[in-house]
Amino acid sequence: MNQTARELLERINREGSVDGRIIKVDLFLNHQVDPQLIDRLGSELAGCFAGVAIDKVITVESSGIMIAQAVAGHLRVPFIYAKKKRPLTMREAFTASSYSFTKQESTTLHVSQEVLEAGQRLLFVDDFFAAGSTFKAIEQIIEQAGATLAGAAVIINKAERSDIQSILTLDDLRQGDE
Ligand code: G4P
Repeated sequence: MNQTARELLERINREGSVDGRIIKVDLFLNHQVDPQLIDRLGSELAGCFAGVAIDKVITVESSGIMIAQAVAGHLRVPFIYAKKKRPLTMREAFTASSYSFTKQESTTLHVSQEVLEAGQRLLFVDDFFAAGSTFKAIEQIIEQAGATLAGAAVIINKAERSDIQSILTLDDLRQGDE
């Protein structure tokens, strides 16, 4: 485990909790936010994609935004966040629906056609990868645009998916608990 992963594990043990599959991080990641920690996590995740061609980072509001900004900042590319409500000012949009098992509700994600173009290479970034339905919806939006998914990175990966880069997995958290 590298230094950034150890730092995050320490914060979870000290200020958060792991209750089965639910990880509480709202004192430093997704309600109150430690910007320096987010920046270090973003730098670590961006480092996984050194040498990979990426035009933009894509995430979903709201908790994905902070880590997407940090990763995009380190990669020096813009980031897009899919909106859960379509604003009146958004004309043509790509849309896909995502079902949240955590929240037990379905949400439609909207991305304006003005910010996503055919041929662009996108990096998906989020705070958690849980059931993967957010990721699936973003994959559909990328496909509608004729763009390409260049990779995926999250802070905490709760699924056994080695194609998703992460700082910590659920196994890391369980071992850290022992
Ligand atoms: P998915 O994102 O992989 O499809 O899985 P799921 O539907 O289960 O999770 C959806 C929402 O729950 C996401 O927030 C995600 O950030 C949050 N989430 C998932 N697992 C955890 C966890 O262990 N701890 C915490 N604190 N949150 C978790 P969202 O619905 O997109 O809403 P928002 O909070 O980003 O606005």
